[in-house]
Amino acid sequence: MSVKKRIMDYGKYFTEAAKRRQPNLIRTLTEIYMRNPESLFFAGGLPNASLFPFKEITITYSNGMKKTLVDKDLTSALQYGPTQGHIPLLKTMTEFQKKYHSPKYNDWDIHIVAGSMEGCSKMFSMLIEPGESAMVQSPTYTGVLNSILPMQPDFIPLEMDEEGILADEIERVCEEKIKNKKPLPKLLYVNPTGANPVGTVYSTERKRKIYELACRYDFIIIEDDAYFFLHFLEEQPKSFFSMDDQGRVVRLDSFSKFMSAGLRLGVVTGPKAFMDKLNLHKASTTLHPASLSQVLVCEVLANWSEDELDAHFKNIQKFYREKRDCMLKVIKKHFTGIAEWSEPKGGMFVWMKIKGMDDIYDLVIEKCAKQGVLVLPGHAFYADGTAPCSYIRLCYSQASEEDMEKGLSKIAAMIIEETSKTQCKINAA
Ligand SMILES: Cc1ncc(COP(=O)(O)O)c(C=O)c1O
Repeated sequence: MSVKKRIMDYGKYFTEAAKRRQPNLIRTLTEIYMRNPESLFFAGGLPNASLFPFKEITITYSNGMKKTLVDKDLTSALQYGPTQGHIPLLKTMTEFQKKYHSPKYNDWDIHIVAGSMEGCSKMFSMLIEPGESAMVQSPTYTGVLNSILPMQPDFIPLEMDEEGILADEIERVCEEKIKNKKPLPKLLYVNPTGANPVGTVYSTERKRKIYELACRYDFIIIEDDAYFFLHFLEEQPKSFFSMDDQGRVVRLDSFSKFMSAGLRLGVVTGPKAFMDKLNLHKASTTLHPASLSQVLVCEVLANWSEDELDAHFKNIQKFYREKRDCMLKVIKKHFTGIAEWSEPKGGMFVWMKIKGMDDIYDLVIEKCAKQGVLVLPGHAFYADGTAPCSYIRLCYSQASEEDMEKGLSKIAAMIIEETSKTQCKINAA
């Protein structure tokens, strides 16, 4: 049985490199200045903004609203900013997290980052020493694989069903570690809403079970939730962060799927101890996310009422649900009998197993790509990308029905040609 109490000592989770990081004094003093602009500032190397070649920036939002950035507003969009993030955006996003997750403890904090991927990769490098165990939902988003594997962890892929990672698998892995007198895994990576590439949305019950196991076996949950608002359920899913009363969930949000991907903004939310370490890491790498991007996002959020924001999320959900349904219709037409797939409950992808082919890599790369149809071979989602794989990932976010019809019929024809060749060989043998 788990004994529930707040984690008091986060030191045991950090890597030696994370512990060695020192504050960047220039950043520290610059931030004091930014929070108190009336102070006399000789400490940091802020370029003089009057020399920047911009007079004003006018933005027209899709609802027709216009905003012109001049003077102080323009300067704050073009100048260095605080490591943690643009102060008004931090305030907005703190309220946003309270609204959507109602955190259960007080000393949580947020950081604005250059996309949730920056947050994820920095969390992994903060937590994983070579050889330490990391449990990961499998198949796994390629960006995460590529950022975690170079750290040479004891990489533990965990199988999923339609409700999320199998909780029994977590228990089995942890009990085996205990039996073999090995250290327990330090973290679990999950992508709970519209899991990339499989499209699963974790059920609340499964999340509760997984969270209980995190408390029992003392691991940190990295909740990468880039598709949190891009689901096809009646109700907004409940996050791991909202269940966390011990301070063991670090949540990654992304603006990419509901605001803009090119602005490169995301939010990391979690125990202050983690956020302080993240601050040190950012202060010696990216310094801070782009000021202009942060100002643009802050302006949109400031000018939308709660109802308008909710309407925006509903609109996104409707749009992608229609795209998904359209692609499923075309898939059914061309792939019945030659492939297996399930209905994505969120995200932008259909994960499809091609029957009768052990490995689809050559077909996808040599044939489909040469015929101008680009799909992703499933290899991209496994730690051993060279092992045979019969899955492909199809993205439905952009293509028109006409293009889906054109592209998918070509792929299906190539699969039929390929599998019939194999069948001929078997018959001849
Ligand atoms: C699961 C997952 N996490 C993170 C990201 C990256 O998001 P961001 O653009 O915020 O870095 C993606 C992008 O596709 C994703 O699918």
